[in-house]
Amino acid sequence: MELTPCRNPLRGHLRPPSDKSVTHRAILFSALAPGACVIEHPLIAADTLSSRHVVESLGVTVRAEQDRWILQSPGPQGWSKPQDVLDCGNSGTTMRLAMGVLAAGSGRYQLSGDDSLSARPMERVARPLRSMGIAVETQDGHAPVTVQGGVHHGTTYVMPVASAQVKSAILLAAVTALGATRVQEPYPTRDYTERMLRAMGAQVQHQEGFITVEPSSLHLVDTMVPGDPSSAAFWAALAALTPGSDLTLREMSISPRRMGFYRLLQAMGAMVTTERKGAEGDVGDIRVSPGQLAGVTVLPEDIPDMIDEVPLLALVATQAQGETVISGAHELRVKESDRIAATVKNLRALGARIEEREDGMVIHGPTRLHGASVEAAGDHRMAMMLAVAAAVADGPVFLEGAQHVAISYPDFFTQYHQWTQGQPFAS
Ligand code: S3P
Repeated sequence: MELTPCRNPLRGHLRPPSDKSVTHRAILFSALAPGACVIEHPLIAADTLSSRHVVESLGVTVRAEQDRWILQSPGPQGWSKPQDVLDCGNSGTTMRLAMGVLAAGSGRYQLSGDDSLSARPMERVARPLRSMGIAVETQDGHAPVTVQGGVHHGTTYVMPVASAQVKSAILLAAVTALGATRVQEPYPTRDYTERMLRAMGAQVQHQEGFITVEPSSLHLVDTMVPGDPSSAAFWAALAALTPGSDLTLREMSISPRRMGFYRLLQAMGAMVTTERKGAEGDVGDIRVSPGQLAGVTVLPEDIPDMIDEVPLLALVATQAQGETVISGAHELRVKESDRIAATVKNLRALGARIEEREDGMVIHGPTRLHGASVEAAGDHRMAMMLAVAAAVADGPVFLEGAQHVAISYPDFFTQYHQWTQGQPFAS
């Protein structure tokens, strides 16, 4: 795809696509109790369809009606025996959370994924689940993965890596365990699993630095999915970098555990304001306009709250005065691509002054980016970051792999081209 520079101010309102993490959880958790539930505004994208496929293989039925899905679940006692291996596609969230969910069943379940997912570490989930007495097999630490559901017990697990997916898998298995489970994270990660399980009747508490789950009987609840801050971040970055912009991102998930990128954008000098909507819940609007940008230091404890936005922050840093140092981001090496290597390679091709570190990057700004050929490395978020870079650059950018946006944001390029053609955002 050829992308040309664009300086059109971003003005008005945009409701970003629905939150991927919340949609995955609403779908997968529906398998855990008998009954019906409604998901309002689910994200319909390749990744969340992988989660839908997994629960449908267990006997959950999903009926789509306007902007909602109505799910009917037999509960774990009534799960059907899947006819085939459960294909999780490109979705790490589907595979890792499903490993915890499947502990509630009584069968032997096999999970597979595409080449990218099959290269991602799965022992980080298998190990704590085994400590609960669940038989889990991996192939040299990777998918395909086999989980034998059945009787299992609680555990105490100190997580070596901050990962909401690993934490979620353990908490999900904990709900159907005999005895309590305690989990400790090195840094807090997104807490949708804790909140949603609590709403379903689980006893989830924070005690002495541990998240504690007691075995609980669950009931299904309806979920209203807000906008995804990680998808909205591409527009926020464009608004921060394009003079004359004043963009409001509406109905977003504004949990502090997802706001790291927005906090750093503000710390760099962009105008970022948040307006909470409604009395309860972390939902609100975020308004972004440009400012004089300066480099920042991103520390290991900052990473979990912006884990998926680090490549985008690196791009913004190429336009900021001074040095930006990002450290403690090893996890980026095992995402949908090696996001440190892919970011450095692509931004360097565009003329950025950027150094690769084992656990991050150092960016020297500001730099005028120029046109070049770049490659999404099979990674949806890399494709969208490079589209933002192309708009800021001085010459045409040839992007290989634009189709990967279908994983989390199928309409991204439709909206992007509307913007480059000077049409206002429809909200
Ligand atoms: C997610 C957690 C993060 C994030 C991913 C979604 C989740 O992964 O990168 O896009 O929904 O729990 P890790 O748990 O591996 O950090």
